[in-house]
Amino acid sequence: MTRTEQRAVTRRLGNAPDQASLDATERMGVDELRALQLERLQWTLRHAYEHVPHYRAAFDAVGVHPEDCRELGDLARFPTTSKADLRDNYPFGMFAVPQAQVRRVHASSGTTGRPTVVGYTERDIDTWATVMARSIRAAGGRAGDRLHNAYGYGLFTGGLGAHYGAEKLGCTVIPVSGGMTPRQVQLIQDFAPRVIMVTPSYMLTVIDELEKQGIDPRTTSLEIGIFGAEPWTEQMRQEMEQRLDIEAIDIYGLSEVMGPGVAQECVETKDGLHIWEDHFFPEVIDPFTGEVLPEGEEGELVFTSLTKEAMPVIRYRTRDLTRLLPGTARPGMRRMEKVTGRTDDMIILRGVNLFPTQIEEIVLQTPGLSPHFTLVLTTQGRLDHLTVQVEARPDCPAERRDPAAREVAMAVKDTVGVSVDVAVVDPDTLARSVGKLKRLTDLRERAGA
Ligand code: DLL
Repeated sequence: MTRTEQRAVTRRLGNAPDQASLDATERMGVDELRALQLERLQWTLRHAYEHVPHYRAAFDAVGVHPEDCRELGDLARFPTTSKADLRDNYPFGMFAVPQAQVRRVHASSGTTGRPTVVGYTERDIDTWATVMARSIRAAGGRAGDRLHNAYGYGLFTGGLGAHYGAEKLGCTVIPVSGGMTPRQVQLIQDFAPRVIMVTPSYMLTVIDELEKQGIDPRTTSLEIGIFGAEPWTEQMRQEMEQRLDIEAIDIYGLSEVMGPGVAQECVETKDGLHIWEDHFFPEVIDPFTGEVLPEGEEGELVFTSLTKEAMPVIRYRTRDLTRLLPGTARPGMRRMEKVTGRTDDMIILRGVNLFPTQIEEIVLQTPGLSPHFTLVLTTQGRLDHLTVQVEARPDCPAERRDPAAREVAMAVKDTVGVSVDVAVVDPDTLARSVGKLKRLTDLRERAGA
């Protein structure tokens, strides 16, 4: 049986993770975990109020005090925090401990202006490594595995976050970082890692490079890919599982809340991402009214840290759209559905909302087209116009290109309800990602610009 066939059998059987492999918190029942969360939440609210002027002012402005939090539902009375609040307190204004206790900072590059700076105490770094180790284990990684880490090292949280977690789990880390794609291939061939951690878009670049070097990507030592830092679809999962003969598993996180390892899909079930609720408390709100939505309803994901010392975050608005689902193998830990859209990425085209992942799904279901595509927004006349440029697969016959373009345009019209232009271009002509992929180029003329 090939690995792909074995996987299909496992999935049909709906295997749950072996309970003995979970740590004590993962096995906690709902009531026990909620009690732990309440205690930690009350500490966090006090810590933020006492040590971060921004939180004191924000709580006072709406007349709430940490003592008002008597049950978890009371959190909804507290104000939310946005990226703008972090920027306004640039660089270190959101820190709740003296600088001498901050062991490390990271920053996420904003598309405009100042980056968002985050800080960690020694204990925070240990907590982060613990949740990351748990994430890698949930994805199927084990002590003793060689792990190729192609997330970028530096101010981005991906590289170092994955690195510390993998070490904590007992893996042998190969700290490659992103870029220098031919070398990535050489190291995969020579060091024979079992696990790779990388953004899904850069994984595609590495797969192409393997093929370019005449190596069948299905023959490498890789068995598990832990992919995150950007939205990716089920169609992309299938593409990577088939082309690499691996398990492609989703990892979610964001710098403001910790970094990678806030939530993690588990290899046995692939049924949403388990939120590590002993450290991060999730809510989903209506992005327009701010109202907390019931479990199962889609909205904007909001997180409150429960143990972070250096930079607690209270009700941080992630701008990621998803829904919460009940816990399964880890009963107290709710799951979140795969994030396939964020408010930042939403394109409003002639009044219709469109997410790049919707295009990804359609492109990958169209025979002859590769997963490499880019979106260009322009103004034609007075209307916004979207062009999808997508590469043909190397084996796509020339006469297939026009029908493929028409099929994509029709599918977008049918499912999203808006007309777009589609251009099928030669293989290997669009820019490749080495980290997070930027799908959209906005060339619209702005009024007054
Ligand atoms: O991207 C942390 C990370 C590194 C996560 C490596 C996973 C792997 P930031 O640079 O602060 O942190 O960006 C966070 O990236 O709010 C989402 O919009 C997006 N994102 C992260 N993981 C996923 C995912 C890191 N699995 C922002 N699916 C988040 C969809 C994701 N989007």
